[in-house]
Amino acid sequence: MKSMLDTDAILIESWLSEAEDRSLANDVLDGLTRPFKELPPKHFYDTRGSELFERICEQPEYYPTRSERSILESRAAEIVEATGAGELVELGSGAADKARILLDAMSAAGMLQRYVPLDVSEVVVRDAAAQLVEEHPELRVHGVIGDFERHLDRVPAPIEGVPRIVAVLGGTVGNFPPGTRRRLLRAVGALLGPEDRLLLGTDLVKDPAVIEAAYDDAEGITAEFNRNLLHVINRELHADFTPEQFDHVAFFDRRHEWIEMRLRSQRPCSVLIGDLGLRVEFAAGEEMRTEISAKFTRARIEADYAAAGLALDRWFTDEHQLFALSLARRVFAP
Ligand code: SAH
Ligand code: AVI
Repeated sequence: MKSMLDTDAILIESWLSEAEDRSLANDVLDGLTRPFKELPPKHFYDTRGSELFERICEQPEYYPTRSERSILESRAAEIVEATGAGELVELGSGAADKARILLDAMSAAGMLQRYVPLDVSEVVVRDAAAQLVEEHPELRVHGVIGDFERHLDRVPAPIEGVPRIVAVLGGTVGNFPPGTRRRLLRAVGALLGPEDRLLLGTDLVKDPAVIEAAYDDAEGITAEFNRNLLHVINRELHADFTPEQFDHVAFFDRRHEWIEMRLRSQRPCSVLIGDLGLRVEFAAGEEMRTEISAKFTRARIEADYAAAGLALDRWFTDEHQLFALSLARRVFAP
């Protein structure tokens, strides 16, 4: 562990570095030697990838951010009152724009104590922490740079007597396939005491054309975000992908009710992943899956909660029913 920034108000601990390099190498080794090539989406988010994601959120077609923010703006005070929370733990916190709405509401209620952002992207956590403590002098930030599939045990112990909200916002939980998603929800649930609540943001099933447009914006920012994965592999593993020779593909899979992003090779190519001594062949038109983003119904979320030892408490949607926020509690054996 390296402690990167330590002031009275901010402590940031990193659990990545070499272990993370290995995680990319192993994911590439697994994913690019399969008959159907696939890479996990967490590797999108280097500094450039995080910036591109921020730009996606500003695109007119990308409704999830606007919709979730509108729910938070109208419900944050109610959520804080219902939970009595003085602490927010956020997994995949990004720029913490939505956390700010909750932290403001906690502050207005005189309850704000601590924010614990956890993210693989160091820069976004550091920047968000610095801004937030300036806005809220009473706030302490304990940032965790880590992978929420591996480092949930690094989330600091709760402050005694202070209920907390553990949030996974933006629809990030939908980026995991169904079984992994339930495993992740169970692991997140283990962070909850009887008074704590999970706050989960999930995108809802809707007209596929609306979803497909959101993942293929006219400005081409999502396409660039998708190709950023190849830039990351080139830089981190000394590979020689030519990213411009891969087309961005986004389509809604109606059977699974998730959108899939892929990269399609325009022509046959042979890529060397230098650090792995691995040569990978792509046929013309061959596609590699880079992300799924599941869309939910209330029934699907309740089933996932039940499978993960959680139970739905409160359900909020925006006025167009595009996105949902739900509060859930952990079910303790009687
Ligand atoms: N919650 C924010 C950001 C969503 S983008 C919002 O709603 O706008 C997804 C975020 O999760 C990114 O900041 C990315 O770096 C982070 N992330 C993705 N996979 C992760 C993982 N396995 N562990 C930790 N952070 C992860
Ligand atoms: C972070 N995650 C919830 C986003 C999503 O919508 O699945 C990532 C993203 N991919 C393309 N656009 C946005």
